[in-house]
Amino acid sequence: MSKEELDLESLEGVGTVTSQKLKDSGVRSVLDLAVRGPSEIAEVTGWDLGKATDLCNRARIKLVEIGKLEKDFVSASDLYKKRQAVERVTTGCKNLDDLLAGGIETQAITEFYGEFGSGKTQLCHTLCVMVQIPRERGGLESNAVYLDTENTFRPERIVGIAESRGLDSETTLQGITVAKAYNSAHQELIISELGEYIETNHIKLVIVDSAVAHYRAEFLGRGTLAERQQRLNRMLHLLLRTAEAHNVAIVFTNQVQSTPDVFFGDPSKPTGGHVVGHTSTYRIYLRKAGKNRIARMVDSPYHPEREVVFVLNEKGVDDPPPETVGRKK
Ligand SMILES: Nc1ncnc2c1ncn2[C@@H]1O[C@H](COP(=O)(O)OP(=O)(O)OP(=O)(O)O)[C@@H](O)[C@H]1O
Ligand SMILES: [Mg+2]
Repeated sequence: MSKEELDLESLEGVGTVTSQKLKDSGVRSVLDLAVRGPSEIAEVTGWDLGKATDLCNRARIKLVEIGKLEKDFVSASDLYKKRQAVERVTTGCKNLDDLLAGGIETQAITEFYGEFGSGKTQLCHTLCVMVQIPRERGGLESNAVYLDTENTFRPERIVGIAESRGLDSETTLQGITVAKAYNSAHQELIISELGEYIETNHIKLVIVDSAVAHYRAEFLGRGTLAERQQRLNRMLHLLLRTAEAHNVAIVFTNQVQSTPDVFFGDPSKPTGGHVVGHTSTYRIYLRKAGKNRIARMVDSPYHPEREVVFVLNEKGVDDPPPETVGRKK
C-alpha cells in the first residue's frame, strides 16, 4: 500500500481546503478517516454529521477497493484467511501462552483485569520486551507503544527484564515509546493519533495501562455514569478499529476493586462494566494466590475457560519454578 493511495486528496471531492482542515484536526490519511468514524470526524472538524458521514463512507469504499479493509459482506473463507494473518506475541511465560493459545493476538484487544499487585503492569512491561525478540522465539521483531495513565512505567524494569532474559537492554529500551496521558481527553487524543505512529515506527503492540483509571477518577457519582460509559465505549472502539486496521496487538489493563466501592457496584466486577467487557476480544482475570498469581480466561470466543499459575520475578512474568509444581498453591 503506497502513501499516495492513502492520501486524503486521493478521495473524490476532497481538495486542499478539506484535507488541510482534516490534517489540522489530526486526521492524516484515508485510514485515519475510516478508523475514527463520522461522529468523531464531525466533532474534531466542526462539520455537520452528514458531511462527516459522507467522507467516512468514501474512505471505507476506497479502503475496500485497495484491499485494506473488509467488504461489508465477506465470505467465511475470506474471514478465515484474514484470521490466518493474525500474529502472536509470547508473554515470556509458557503457562500464560498456553492459556492464550500461543500468546497475545494482533487484530484484537486483550484485557487483563485484577486487583492491585496482581501483575498487570509487570505483564505489560514483559510484553514490551517480548514483542521485540525474533519470530522463531515467539516475538514479532517489532516495537511497542506504552500508554501510561498511572505513571507506573519504569524503564529500569525493562532493563531488568531484558537483561535477565539475555537481551541487550539499550536496544530493548529503544524499541519502546512511552506516552503519558494526563487525563481521559488526553488519553483519547493519543489513541486517535496512534495510526500514523504505528505505521511509521514498526509498532506491533500497544499497551494501555490502565485504560479506565482516568475515567474512574473523572466521572464520579451516578449522574455522570452514562457519560462515562459512552466515552469509554468510544475510546475502546477506537482501539479495536486501530487493532484491526493496522494488524497490531492491543493490551489494556483494568483494575478490580478489592474493597467495596459505592460508585461502581459489584466489587468483583472490573470497572467499566459491560461496555468494557463487550469490546475486548479476550479478557483475562488475574489474582493473587500467596506468592503465585493465577490467570483465568473469561468469555473468549474460542479459548476454553480455564486457569493457569504464573509468578512475578526479575524476568517479569514467568512460569513457577519446577519444584512448586503440584504443590498446594
Ligand atoms: N523485580 C521484581 N521481582 C519480583 N517481583 C516483582 C518485581 N517487581 C515487581 N514485582 C511484583 O509485582 C507486584 C506489582 O505488580 P503490578 O505492579 O504488575 O500490579 P498491578 O496489577 O499493575 O497493580 P495496580 O492495579 O496497582 O496497577 C509487586 O507486588 C511485586 O510482587
Ligand atoms: Mg499497574
